[in-house]
Amino acid sequence: MEKSPKFFLLLLLLLPVLSSCVERQVYIVYFGEHNGEKALHEIEENHHSYLLSVKETDEDARSSLLYSYKHSINGFAAELTPEEAQNLSRREEVVSVIKNTKYSLHTTRSWEFAGVEKSLNKFNKDDLLIKSKFGRDVIAGVMDSGVWPESRSFSDKGLGPVPKRWKGICQTGDLFNSSQCNRKIIGARYYIQAYEKYYGPLNRTTDYLSPRDKDGHGTHTASTVGGRRVHNVAALGGFARGMASGGAPLVRLAIYKACWPVPNHGKENGNTCFSADMLAAIDDAIHDGVDVLSISIGEFEPTPFDQDTIAIGALHAVKKNIITACSAGNSGPAPYTLSNTAPWIITVGASSVDRKFISYVELGNGEKVQGETVTPYHLEKKFHPLVRAAQVAIPDVPKNLSDQCLPGSLSPERAKGNIVFCLRGNGTRVGKGAEVKRAGGIGYILGNSKANGEELAVDSHFIPANAVGYKNAMKILEYINSTKNPTAYITPSKTVLHGITAPFMAGFSSRGPSPISEAILKPDITAPGLNILAAWSEGSSPTKFDIDHRVVKYNILSGTSMSCPHIGGSAALLRAIHPTWSSAAIRSALMTTAEISNNIGKPITDASGNEADPFLFGSGHFRPAKAADPGLVYDASFEDYLLHLCTLKVPLKDMSPNFTCPKNPPLAHNLNYPSVAIPKLKGTVVIKRTVTNVGSSRSVYFSSVKPPVGISVKISPPILYFHKQGEKKSFTITVKAERTEDAGLESREDASAIPKNHKYQFGWYSWSDGNGIYNVRSPIAVALY
Ligand SMILES: *[C@@H]1O[C@H](CO)[C@@H](O)[C@H](O)[C@H]1NC(C)=O
Ligand SMILES: *[C@@H]1O[C@H](CO)[C@@H](O)[C@H](O)[C@H]1NC(C)=O
Ligand SMILES: *[C@@H]1O[C@H](CO)[C@@H](O)[C@H](O)[C@H]1NC(C)=O
Ligand SMILES: *[C@@H]1O[C@H](CO)[C@@H](O)[C@H](O)[C@H]1NC(C)=O
Ligand SMILES: *[C@@H]1O[C@H](CO)[C@@H](O)[C@H](O)[C@H]1NC(C)=O
Ligand SMILES: *[C@@H]1O[C@H](CO)[C@@H](O)[C@H](O)[C@H]1NC(C)=O
Ligand SMILES: *[C@@H]1O[C@H](CO)[C@@H](O)[C@H](O)[C@H]1NC(C)=O
Repeated sequence: MEKSPKFFLLLLLLLPVLSSCVERQVYIVYFGEHNGEKALHEIEENHHSYLLSVKETDEDARSSLLYSYKHSINGFAAELTPEEAQNLSRREEVVSVIKNTKYSLHTTRSWEFAGVEKSLNKFNKDDLLIKSKFGRDVIAGVMDSGVWPESRSFSDKGLGPVPKRWKGICQTGDLFNSSQCNRKIIGARYYIQAYEKYYGPLNRTTDYLSPRDKDGHGTHTASTVGGRRVHNVAALGGFARGMASGGAPLVRLAIYKACWPVPNHGKENGNTCFSADMLAAIDDAIHDGVDVLSISIGEFEPTPFDQDTIAIGALHAVKKNIITACSAGNSGPAPYTLSNTAPWIITVGASSVDRKFISYVELGNGEKVQGETVTPYHLEKKFHPLVRAAQVAIPDVPKNLSDQCLPGSLSPERAKGNIVFCLRGNGTRVGKGAEVKRAGGIGYILGNSKANGEELAVDSHFIPANAVGYKNAMKILEYINSTKNPTAYITPSKTVLHGITAPFMAGFSSRGPSPISEAILKPDITAPGLNILAAWSEGSSPTKFDIDHRVVKYNILSGTSMSCPHIGGSAALLRAIHPTWSSAAIRSALMTTAEISNNIGKPITDASGNEADPFLFGSGHFRPAKAADPGLVYDASFEDYLLHLCTLKVPLKDMSPNFTCPKNPPLAHNLNYPSVAIPKLKGTVVIKRTVTNVGSSRSVYFSSVKPPVGISVKISPPILYFHKQGEKKSFTITVKAERTEDAGLESREDASAIPKNHKYQFGWYSWSDGNGIYNVRSPIAVALY
């Protein structure tokens, strides 16, 4: 519709009336860094004066303020009308005004329990833990849903005094007094102002108004970063039994609770974390003295860096040399689904471990298909009637949903006494099982849809159950189709630790390219995130469903939420070994030593068995023991990131008062990153990189290249000579599009039909010393223009 002048006049006349009833909401007014030392009350007064300039009264200004960010971060969160927010955003000193938004925890919606994290044991064998003294002088901050402090994973037995540099506090509240902090959990705080502004006061039967974790997620991630070694942890039903241990078992933990339950969310408990609360948590964590921040939280949709409080907080953290590890998100397998893609963050994808809980579905025709389960209930040993959900759904359920066992979709008259086959899709895995139980089913088979491939996240369901991959799901459906009275039996499950090919990438793990800035290859790395055992809250049940009254001390979860703290824990160990290394150097060490083959020496695959690429796993699967001694690192400073922001023209470039963008900032791909991405290659691009020698003092490194298909890659000089530790050497990478006929890429006319990321080709280059000790590898992703 054309907007006439009359329309505008009307709008103008209405505005004064409207603005008084316009919904006020929380905004963050962000000024960047503090300029010079200021007393806290001066900072508060300064923030107040800004608020006062848009509010009618002093009282109004005071009551609208939620947070004054006073430590590293300069800004405040307040309730504003859109006009007030806009007015403030026009001030010169304001870097950005950010709408307070909801973020969420990065678990797949499944909660269950089982065995022991084998891959952790694997690197325990190396002397990494000994060299790092198990991380005992390092402080890891975990921003999440709080902590269950009584878990044996958080025992402080044998730990020395709290490091003197620690400035944090133990904030008390519901079921949390100061003695809940100890020499293991050295600090705990909670942040709820923005949550309560949005939802009203916390319902204290749904969570504790304190750092105590009702949900379980925060306990799980904290114990994965730095839980103690706890022997003889067994799962319900007698599954895997053994040791649970965090990545850095003696690291000190600082808990920042910023995620809370969504009110009236129903059975499938949801959580949310508000950006204004998280920014306060990160500001405190930096001030308190954490060395590492582990954040398994992400935004719902791609958010520019200057609007994303995790990215902003992590940038302030970089200046204090704090490493931030974040989950990549669980929105795979589609491309462009990543969260947390800022180049000063370690973005972590999720992959499988070499353990399965094998159970078979035996079909009436004698066929036997393999699945996985940790459900501790068994069927009577005989064949039972088998139906697909659509055959026993109530008639009103639309056809496209009738196989999905959504709540209320099954008819008890028809489902009763059957094993019911349900397809994945919408709804949760546990919720579908609960629906089968509600309708009187005696067994539950969960079949993957095509998108889930062969990835099986196990659950502790409420009736005998099994989960099968896509191929076996189709076999079962064909069998049901082929006979009048289909029958089946589900065998009890066994934990299998041998002959399991791992890792493969989880189907849910979010994929690159980065939706925000394609010139940086993301994710950075992958770590275990499928069926991960860690400590749990005794304030909830393993599935968190209303009908679940089981209480467990350990539980299995899946998600990039689980892989991120593996990297957080590894970074803590590296920080202990190399206290002077920058956060970029530590990330570089983790990335350039990562593995791209699985345990049978074949390329790591996706959940369907296809070869995976760097948009799934970044540089590869983490190998922390190797990362302790990487040979060379790609370093980058806080200023380098600001220069990069100048190139991207993101307002966040103005966050530092003592920094101005140069006229010609370096091209985006020249950030000294341990990987290379060129989203639109046209002709030739010359990329600059600098490596720092952290290995033997005198050493020689030789370059090698596996170029992407249709692309030539040349490293110059091809050999680097180092004479001492700490020495830096620069080199160029010349990337050139070959004539496409030569490369078999001629039919590009229909490029629009190809999903955007399929235009990318992948390769790598590496630096190796002559002695076979070091191999410093970097992935390359190139898309032709
Ligand atoms: C900027 O420089 C001034 C003067 O050197 C110094 O006092 C101030 O702390 C610096 N600010 C920041 C944020 O580094
Ligand atoms: C902001 O609002 C104040 C008070 O209404 C007004 O004086 C000022 O000019 C406005 N500033 C901007 C940048 O819009
Ligand atoms: C803190 O709470 C625990 C129980 O949760 C109790 O045993 C202890 O005495 C309390 N400590 C203080 C200082 O109140
Ligand atoms: C608080 O939550 C409990 C449990 O979900 C519920 O029964 C109760 O009605 C809620 N109270 C309020 C005031 O919403
Ligand atoms: C199912 O199909 C109906 C129309 O037939 C459509 O409106 C609905 O969005 C579909 N639902 C899903 C989940 O695909
Ligand atoms: C899930 O629901 C959404 C929204 O109704 C729909 O678009 C999507 O197709 C559904 N997925 C499946 C697998 O049914
Ligand atoms: C089963 O039979 C139905 C109807 O004959 C058909 O639509 C469906 O594709 C068949 N499914 C399988 C898995 O063979």
